[in-house]
Amino acid sequence: MPDRLEVVTGDITRLAVDAIVNAANESLLGGGGVDGAIHRAAGPELLAYCRTLGGCPTGEAKITPGFRLPAEHVIHTVGPVWRGGSQGEPGQLASCYRACFRLAKAHGLRSLAFPAISCGVYGYPREAAARIAAGECRSALAGNPGLERVLLVAFDEAMAETLRTATRSA
Ligand code: APR
Repeated sequence: MPDRLEVVTGDITRLAVDAIVNAANESLLGGGGVDGAIHRAAGPELLAYCRTLGGCPTGEAKITPGFRLPAEHVIHTVGPVWRGGSQGEPGQLASCYRACFRLAKAHGLRSLAFPAISCGVYGYPREAAARIAAGECRSALAGNPGLERVLLVAFDEAMAETLRTATRSA
């Protein structure tokens, strides 16, 4: 039985999956990092659509069309800013993954790709974030047979190795 969870390295905006996940901020009005890359690739209609959503609290997620992206949808989630680990960050990060999987199930999505949420500007330690990502993906896959493929997308090889280590032990 092939593993439905896979680590890949590259630019998430290029993936032709049912949905790519955006590591957004609470305004949902774009930013730098992967948020900036997704808005650039999706085109201005994405921002226009996001303006109608009224933002998104940390730990939650909202779905939009993918517009000019090869992905059908974008699921925007807002990860926690790392503040040392005792401000509820682990629970909020886990909540991001769960919220994205809930939307994937509700929309009958079969393939989904995540960037390393909170591991850039938001400063979350990569190993800890990878363990949470892998654990949440494993339990979501167990609970959703309709989900055929989940990709954890690293933007550099070091992160890919960290994610592979985490998925092997999850
Ligand atoms: N494809 C895949 N991964 C990417 C891409 C890309 N095109 N660009 C960046 N990344 C990776 C980063 O290397 C990092 O590992 O995504 C991960 C998340 O980093 P950020 O994009 O900085 O997201 P985050 O740490 O969650 O911070 C979110 O940054 O861009 C702003 O508006 C955003 O305020 C929000 C904050």
